[in-house]
Amino acid sequence: MNRLRVAVIGMGVMGPMHAAIYQHMPHVELVATVEADPARAHEASQQFAVPSYSSVEELLSMGSAFEAASICLPDHLHVDAAIRLAQAGVHLLVEKPLATTLDGCDAIIAAAAERRLKLMVGFTLRFEPRYRLVWQAAKEGKLGDIVYQYARRNNILASARRLGGRVSLPFFLQVHDIDAMRWIGGSEVVSAYALSCRRVLTELGVDDAVISLLRFADGSIGCIESNWVMPDSLPYRFDFRHEVVGTVGKADIELADQGVSIHAGDRFHFPDPSFRGVLRPDEPLVLRMELEHFVECILDDRPPLPTGQDGRAATAVALAIERSLKEGTPVPVPG
Ligand SMILES: NC(=O)c1ccc[n+]([C@@H]2O[C@H](COP(=O)([O-])OP(=O)(O)OC[C@H]3O[C@@H](n4cnc5c(N)ncnc54)[C@H](O)[C@@H]3O)[C@@H](O)[C@H]2O)c1
Repeated sequence: MNRLRVAVIGMGVMGPMHAAIYQHMPHVELVATVEADPARAHEASQQFAVPSYSSVEELLSMGSAFEAASICLPDHLHVDAAIRLAQAGVHLLVEKPLATTLDGCDAIIAAAAERRLKLMVGFTLRFEPRYRLVWQAAKEGKLGDIVYQYARRNNILASARRLGGRVSLPFFLQVHDIDAMRWIGGSEVVSAYALSCRRVLTELGVDDAVISLLRFADGSIGCIESNWVMPDSLPYRFDFRHEVVGTVGKADIELADQGVSIHAGDRFHFPDPSFRGVLRPDEPLVLRMELEHFVECILDDRPPLPTGQDGRAATAVALAIERSLKEGTPVPVPG
């Protein structure tokens, strides 16, 4: 295969970014989008000049030929859409988390395997050059054996309000760091213990902040801190950090300050160039690297990374964190 036709499912925040990137790739043709909201569907059809269907069923019933799809639907809709598309023989890039239950993950993995399809999960950090440098250093043994990893993934309040209580902190934010820690450390999480606080977002029924402590199979430990109640007036929208301490080395990624600041009128801010198009509409660079990997793996018939099993492992840890929050004790993570 030397050319790939793709559809993007869900035209909220992530879907239009996927669509814009595909549309600029030389060996890729964006053939359709799917969006249930009529206004967003109209906007997508105008922006990308391809048909927008109201559901996956409608897309499949129209008989448009395409080989791959990005699923950018809300988390709880990933399983149904992924299975229907896999049954139609479509390679899948599923935004994180793969699914919010282990049964859901297994069903997607089985549906893709049955048709020998590529299945990739959208863990963006694997394509972030700074995370990749740290992964490389760890893999080459430059840090020695990992002693601990610490990750911070904090968002402003507007982010929690936009999501309206539909998702939890472990599944929306921590799942990125769970995957990054498994990947960088090369070891699986065996147990999780988590604490939370709920003072601001009581009306949404979600935690303001969660701190999760992880034990890995190789004996190392991890701590993931996340909240989505930072004031909207901060000069940055995200406060991200990753730290790895090994027996002979240390690595730090610090992402709150993006290396550029703008003071305009009464607002001082650090714009994030890694997640928005500045030079070209397909520029969100990290996402472009992720989608290019997906496309190349299909065209070259290689297995994409991160795999469905990586998605399942991260979901297992997020579920253990949620259970620990309910039960107040450390919870084993099923292998
Ligand atoms: N990789 C990352 O860094 C990253 C960042 C943000 C979100 N995400 C993930 O991407 C996915 C989408 O997130 P988002 O923030 O774009 O969500 P969103 O809510 O902004 O967009 C989802 C879209 O799907 C549409 N939709 C809902 N049900 C539908 C259906 N049955 N058929 C067709 N369309 C339907 C909604 O109308 C909406 O436009 C989530 O799984 C999320 O966790 C990943």
